Amino acid sequence: MASSTVRPDNEDHDVAARLLLSSAKLSYDPAVDVDWDTPLDKDFHGQCPEWSTLYGTAYWDEMTEAQRKELTRQEVASIASTGIWFEMILQQMVLRDMYAKDPTDPRFQWALTEIADECRHSIMFGRSSAKLGAPPTGRAARSSSWAGSSRASPSARPRTRRSSSPRRSSTSCSGTGCGTPGSSPSSAPSATSTSSRSPGT
Ligand SMILES: [Fe+2]
Repeated sequence: MASSTVRPDNEDHDVAARLLLSSAKLSYDPAVDVDWDTPLDKDFHGQCPEWSTLYGTAYWDEMTEAQRKELTRQEVASIASTGIWFEMILQQMVLRDMYAKDPTDPRFQWALTEIADECRHSIMFGRSSAKLGAPPTGRAARSSSWAGSSRASPSARPRTRRSSSPRRSSTSCSGTGCGTPGSSPSSAPSATSTSSRSPGT
């Protein structure tokens, strides 16, 4: 008969205490541990070009090398923005789990440390995205960018279509050649393209 895989309470306690010590040594603070003032070298791709959504397509072939690099930078910033979304989901789950637990327990303190780590990751992702030239994302940013866009004027966004298919409206254009206005390769690395794929959608 298989033995139980549930660890004794005191063992979990020790693990949490050890993780707390480890975190104190290994956690990075994005506000002080990264030199954000160093100019971005745009001679590099943001990620391996082979990982780009357009790599190997006719659109990719049509793009200049500078456009490809810009696209990969925008894509990795978009991925980071999605990462922030998941980090926040994790943080609120851990917070809810710990809400009424014993604050003197190292397991409780480790949970808060984990939340803080995820928060630092998110700040890192956010600052990286800004450094990569990603446009603002999220609901508020999307609203303001729509308001300032000629494509987003009320006449360009029929109310009936939005109300009948809001999900399609917000995600129908990847900005990278899906056939919607402004999605040609030349505009693929644009601000509009990435914001449409933000985690806020
Ligand atoms: Fe994380």
